Amino acid sequence: MKLSISIVALAAATASAFMPSNSGLRASSLQMALKDGEVPIVIGLAADSGCGKSTFMRRVTSTFGGDQCGPLGGGFGNGGWETNTLVSDMATVICLDDYHLNDRTGRKVSGLTALNTAEQRFDLMFEHVKALKEGKTIMKPIYNHVNGTLDEPEKIEPTPVIIIEGLHPFVDERVRDLIDFSLYLDISPEVKLNWKIQRDMEERGHSLESIMASIEARKPDFDAFIEPQKKFADYIIEVLPTDLDPNDKKTLKVRAIQKKGVQDFNPTYLFDEGSTISWVPSADKLSSPAPGIKLAYTQEQYFGNDVSVLEMDGNFDNIQELVYVESNLGNANSKFYGEVTQAMLSLADSPGSNNGTGLMQTLAAFAIRELYNKKAATAKLAANKVAAAASA
Ligand SMILES: *[C@@H]1O[C@H](CO)[C@@H](O)[C@H](O)[C@H]1NC(C)=O
Ligand SMILES: *[C@@H]1O[C@H](CO)[C@@H](O)[C@H](O)[C@H]1NC(C)=O
Repeated sequence: MKLSISIVALAAATASAFMPSNSGLRASSLQMALKDGEVPIVIGLAADSGCGKSTFMRRVTSTFGGDQCGPLGGGFGNGGWETNTLVSDMATVICLDDYHLNDRTGRKVSGLTALNTAEQRFDLMFEHVKALKEGKTIMKPIYNHVNGTLDEPEKIEPTPVIIIEGLHPFVDERVRDLIDFSLYLDISPEVKLNWKIQRDMEERGHSLESIMASIEARKPDFDAFIEPQKKFADYIIEVLPTDLDPNDKKTLKVRAIQKKGVQDFNPTYLFDEGSTISWVPSADKLSSPAPGIKLAYTQEQYFGNDVSVLEMDGNFDNIQELVYVESNLGNANSKFYGEVTQAMLSLADSPGSNNGTGLMQTLAAFAIRELYNKKAATAKLAANKVAAAASA
């Protein structure tokens, strides 16, 4: 019964998992301090339309066993301030909009958009990420999205996992070198338009012309400053319209493009590692609404890199049945069989839980956890060696 209710709620939700939203977040006060000598891992997440990928963040933090995830200080209206920073037991998510050079008024003077790299403070971004990685506390500016102002800085303490998220995580080479794993959320122009129509036209009453004009106006800067970062990403989640029915504007095809040869990361595969497979699961085992569901696994080139791609086109009816897909995945980085499905079930109300957006986010979250565990183990080994050498 509980499940059918969540599915109804999901179907009713128009917002997507990748759209900014702060709903459902709780304030957090318990943040885990770094253990002695522990080096945080830094995850970079590049995505259009600013910050607040709270669903993805929740998938990541719940994978680490942390259940508290909310705005630093409680957030505006909860005794806190207007912040873009999300914190959980294990992780801190920093929104890179906080490194805007100018406030909104200043950008009117410069005539540049926030997409333009000339409007970002990369020196400060680098100093801050470096300091956090060294276990130091920083005072980070705040870009107030409500008022378009640069507010009083807030204090950020290092946590075991630091996620930097926003428009330009991979532009500066020094910042890139500090990042342990890089993700890029790539929403195709068609899907972006459909989502914008859904939100701005159907919910806010904007005209189609004004929506098209605002998309067109952004495109040159997006192509010049955001898109080129794709080549630096280790894991790209691509969201496209379905291939299963050309008239279907709602169903999505989601692809996880996974770079090969990245340290501490083994791409997830379907059935047979390194193979090429297209799979329509038995409808008795994985039922789906029209236009159906199809998975694929391929080996490709992406900006000159060898990648393997895991793909899910369409939605499924019942999250529990996802275990059938899970049973055919390899390198899912789960701790036990069924954990992927369980993670999806535990966030059943979140957008994307009945299609590939939720699955690929979950798999990316598991890959991040695995990376963290491997790095922690290596660091421990190195520390033991030093200790052994000192006592010898
Ligand atoms: C925006 O600015 C006004 C006027 O200074 C202020 O009262 C308000 O608290 C600000 N809003 C936020 C969310 O910071
Ligand atoms: C698939 O997930 C997205 C969230 O990323 C959601 O908005 C969409 O409604 C889902 N698709 C369908 C057809 O339910």
